[in-house]
Parts: sequence; structure tokens; C-alpha cells
Amino acid sequence: MAKKADAKPTPVPRSKPSSLVDTRVIYCGDNLDQLKKLPDACVDLIYIDPPFNSNRNYEIFWPETSEKRRFDDRHESTKAYIDYMRPRCDELRRVLKKTGSFYYHCDWHASHHVRVMLDEIFGENNFQSEIIWHRTLAKGLGFTGFPNNHDTIFLYGGGGELTFNRPYDPYDLDNLDEKTASKYSHRDPDGRLYQLDNLMNPNPNRPNLTYEFLGHTKVWRWTKERMQEAYENGIVVQPSPGAVPRMKRYLDEQEGRPIDTVWMDIPPINSQAKERLGYPTQKPLALLERIIKASSNENDVVLDAFCGCGTAILAAQNLKRQWIGIDISPTSCSVMAKRLRDNTTLREDEDLWKAGRGFVVQNLPFTVDLLRKMPPFEFENWAVKQLNGRANKVQIGDKGIDGRIYPVGVSPREMGAGELALEESWYPIQVKQKDKAGRPDMDAFETAMRRAARTKGFFVSFDYSEEAEREVTRFWKEEQRTIILLTVKELLDGNFAHKLV
Ligand SMILES: C[S@@+](CC[C@H](N)C(=O)[O-])C[C@H]1O[C@@H](n2cnc3c(N)ncnc32)[C@H](O)[C@@H]1O
Repeated sequence: MAKKADAKPTPVPRSKPSSLVDTRVIYCGDNLDQLKKLPDACVDLIYIDPPFNSNRNYEIFWPETSEKRRFDDRHESTKAYIDYMRPRCDELRRVLKKTGSFYYHCDWHASHHVRVMLDEIFGENNFQSEIIWHRTLAKGLGFTGFPNNHDTIFLYGGGGELTFNRPYDPYDLDNLDEKTASKYSHRDPDGRLYQLDNLMNPNPNRPNLTYEFLGHTKVWRWTKERMQEAYENGIVVQPSPGAVPRMKRYLDEQEGRPIDTVWMDIPPINSQAKERLGYPTQKPLALLERIIKASSNENDVVLDAFCGCGTAILAAQNLKRQWIGIDISPTSCSVMAKRLRDNTTLREDEDLWKAGRGFVVQNLPFTVDLLRKMPPFEFENWAVKQLNGRANKVQIGDKGIDGRIYPVGVSPREMGAGELALEESWYPIQVKQKDKAGRPDMDAFETAMRRAARTKGFFVSFDYSEEAEREVTRFWKEEQRTIILLTVKELLDGNFAHKLV
């Protein structure tokens, strides 16, 4: 049976990342398939915010028709929604460690059914909390009944002793709320506010703590020596002559008001919010930060299997956790990768990732359309990678060349980074994110090839003008240098190997 989360201090943070599972990865695909590939009990914290059973669609932000279908809440009934979620929650339960925590974010549409399902999957005893997140902006004012203004977040434990770092809302000592002021109603001559607290031991069966103090024989919380010392220091007092001694609890020594299950202090993303990406269901970073801080420690593994625009993984990265994100939408995966690149020092780079730094997006099914809209640098990287080439990190002295292909058996690693520029066995790659690369593009690449003394090079673009093709023929005839023209479609279809030889 799970232990209820208690107020114990944070366990010592671990210094090593997980050895059980790859982290700092965004997987593009259905989480049911992806979760099946993860080992048992490898994750410390799971947060999910699946599309609700609300018939909401996302076409305002995502105009592409192919994407629209994916973002629609396709669950026609609550039953269908639960049937969809159950196998996914079974998998999430399997990958959660015993000491792990699971948060399910939903709203009134299905929260009652979700709770029943989660009781079945995680066990009623592992239910920890039902958090009410007050969204401040009420929805449904036009209807009879009270407008909805909250989401529900269920917290379940994995069955063992949970990580729980209790969050507090610090008191504002200069502007004390009425409730706290009435609780801390005593004041020392130096102005410090305190309340008088009970010194009795909750366990009546403690013979060694049973003694007489200031005329009262009780089972005390502290030993007689400690009581005496605290009395002499003015911490233990008798509120009136002959009264039972009590202890002073000073307000300025308290961490604050323990955060309970009603969260009213985190506003939703509004139209002016700095972190706003325009993603309709984006949750505030502060919400995810609270969850991640409370239920994990540094280097723990955080998983969001419906990660949208990546709020949970960005919060996890900022808080020095390891993380795994999964989303079925390629657009979401691209948005969150950009969000990580823009807001952290992490680079999207497979080599860095293998070396324990950087992050990767895996299984992204690119489309010609998505590639057209990709940032140019990312597009270049993608094209070079498709050709099994190495992207140029530094372009100085390499003008007009975006990457290099090395023949099999010759790799920059073997040669040493400093010798790369001198090595003869490589072919230049030029990438242009253009509908039709033209004659001037060929001229520029020819200049780069001459400068680098290359006799064969590869050019990637969406298509080529007739003049560009004629120029390539002329280049071969007059200078015996070959430019291989490759289209993005050929790269996407993997239909280019015959052109490389
Ligand atoms: C409500 S949004 C999550 C928003 C996220 N919490 C944020 O702050 O950005 C739900 C996400 O779940 C994704 N999704 C829906 N079904 C999925 C599935 N079977 N596997 C993976 N992702 C899925 C959708 O593409 C969508 O991005």
C-alpha cells in the first residue's frame, strides 16, 4: 500500500542521469506504440494532458488539413475516450517506478470517469490527490448553471514511498493576509510575530518523555533537557501563571502556507503572456514547474506522453531533470523542438546527444510541406543528414558548401577534426530551400567547387529550372565536374542511392 505523501525533506539528489532509458528525446508517434518500447519502471514522474472529450478542434492554429484530423478530439463519447486512454494508462503505469508519481490533467467532461479508470489501473490506495486548478477565466457563461473555471489534475503514486517535496506559498510579511495575521497574533518586544503551539506528544505511550515540567506532568514532545533549554531561551512559555507550557512558533521561521489541492495562484496562458506560442491547449510553465519540483529531484526522469508544445519538457529541462516527450503530431514535435532550442542552451544535435548533451527528435515523418516551412538552418541539417553527410558547423572558408559526404570507411572521427579541411575524399553538398533552384544557384556552387578543388558535388532543392539543368551539363562538358541534382522528394522517398555512386 502506498504511503501518503508527507512533509519529509527532499531526498538527496542523484547526480547521474538515468541508465535505464534514453532521455532528452522527443518521439513523434502514437504514445501507445512508443511506450511499449520503454522498459518497466524507468520513469520517476509522468504528467499527461490528453485531448479532452470536448469536441474542441485546433484548426485556428493548425490550418493544414492533415494535421486538423489529428488534433480533433475524435472521441465521440466518454466511453470511447476512456477506451482510448485505458491501454495508454496501463502502459504508463508499467513504466512508472514504484517511487514515481503520475499526474493526469483533465476537466469536467470526463474527470469522473478518469478517476474510476485510474483507481482500477493504479489501485485506489495509490490515489494521492485531486488538484483543482482554478483557471480564472470561466467558460460557458452563456449556459444555465455555474460557469466552468477549473481543471482537475489527479495524482497517483506508483505504490512505494513517493518523492514529495512539499511546496509552500511564502508569507508576505509586509502585507499579511487576515487569516495568517489572526493565527500569528502574538508579538515579541522586538516585533516578531508568533503563535503558541502545543508541546504535548501525540503518542501517549512514551515513558521516557513523561515527566513533570512547571507543575504539569504530561507526555511531552521533547526531552526534559531540551524543554529546560527552550524555557531558558524564552521559546517555551506559560501563557498565564500556572498554565500548561506552550512553545512559540515564529512566523518568520515558517516556509509559508503549504500548497493544498486548490491552486488559485497560477493564471492560464492569456493573450499577452510572454511564454504564449499560440498553441490552443498550452499550459503555463509555472503549473508544470510546481508539479515537477514537488514530485521529482534533479536528474529524475520526467515523461509527458501527450506533450503538445512541450511545456512539461521545457520545465523539466529548466529544473535539471531528464525528460522524454511523446506527441503524435509532427507539427507539435517541431514546435517543441524549436521551443527548446529558443529557450534553453540545449542543441538539437545527434552527436551532442550521444555524448550526453543536446537533444533529438525521433521518428518525425517529414512532409514536403513541413520542410518548406522549416527554418533554413534546420532544413539544411535535415537534407545533409538524409544524405548521410556531415553538416558544416563553421562556414568560414567553406562558403557555398553546407555539408560534406565522406566515402564509406572515411569518417571525420578517424581523421581528426583538424585535418578535415585537407582531406581529399569528400564531396560538397549545397542545399537551397527553394521551389526551383536556378542558374545563379548553380553558378555559386560551381565557384565553391572550384575553390575547394572538388570534381563532384550534390545539390538539394525542391526542384530545378531548365537553365539550372543546362548549366550542370555545360559544367560537366567544359570542366569535367559533376553536380548531382537531388530533389527533396527524392530524399524523402529515400530514392537517391543510385545517384550517389
Ligand atoms: C492538450 S495537448 C497537450 C498540451 C501540453 N500540455 C502543453 O502544455 O503544450 C494534447 C496533445 O496530445 C497529443 N496526442 C493526442 N493523441 C496522442 C497519442 N495517441 N499519442 C501521442 N500524442 C497524442 C496531441 O497531438 C496534442 O498535442
